Amino acid sequence: MSKSRSAPAAAPDRARPIDHQKAHEIQGFGHVTRLPIALSEKVAAQSVESLNQVLADTITLRDMYKKQHWQVSGPTFYQLHLLFDKHYEEQNELVDTIAERIQSLGGISLAMAGDVAETTIVPRPPKAREEPPVQLSRLLHAHEIILEEARSMARQADEAGDDGTNDLLVSDLIRLNEKQVWFVSEHLVDVPLVKAD
Ligand SMILES: [Fe+2]
Repeated sequence: MSKSRSAPAAAPDRARPIDHQKAHEIQGFGHVTRLPIALSEKVAAQSVESLNQVLADTITLRDMYKKQHWQVSGPTFYQLHLLFDKHYEEQNELVDTIAERIQSLGGISLAMAGDVAETTIVPRPPKAREEPPVQLSRLLHAHEIILEEARSMARQADEAGDDGTNDLLVSDLIRLNEKQVWFVSEHLVDVPLVKAD
């Protein structure tokens, strides 16, 4: 008779991922949690609200650049294709800067497309493809909306003593948008390509 070997004790399956977890949210949207950054909750909350608006508009402009990068046509295709992607990348970096500033203030940054779509004041372009001058005009309009709101938000942050938000809006956002406006605008100047008038 063979000696029976006792089965090894079942080891707990610690390698199994614990998925489908759910729990209460830890911070409600719109609630600003206090961080030790020597700013009042009221000032932080005001800056968070402004930054979430300009974040939604910047995400929309960023995505509009990608749309136009894919859908551009005509003799200036390659030049505009590259320019639109460059501006997309720069706006993408700005999106991260704004979102992380919101978190640094104790707020919650908007993130998902549906929430962005509900918040942005930049007009939604059609799904259809449009001519380059229309693409360029739409981009310029979005830039101008953002510049207008950002200037008043920057002044408000300055008056409230939130220097970090003021600096982000002026040094990062306003300067980048103004420069991109220049690059886009020059494509709408009607000058002869080969023979002078
Ligand atoms: Fe691409």
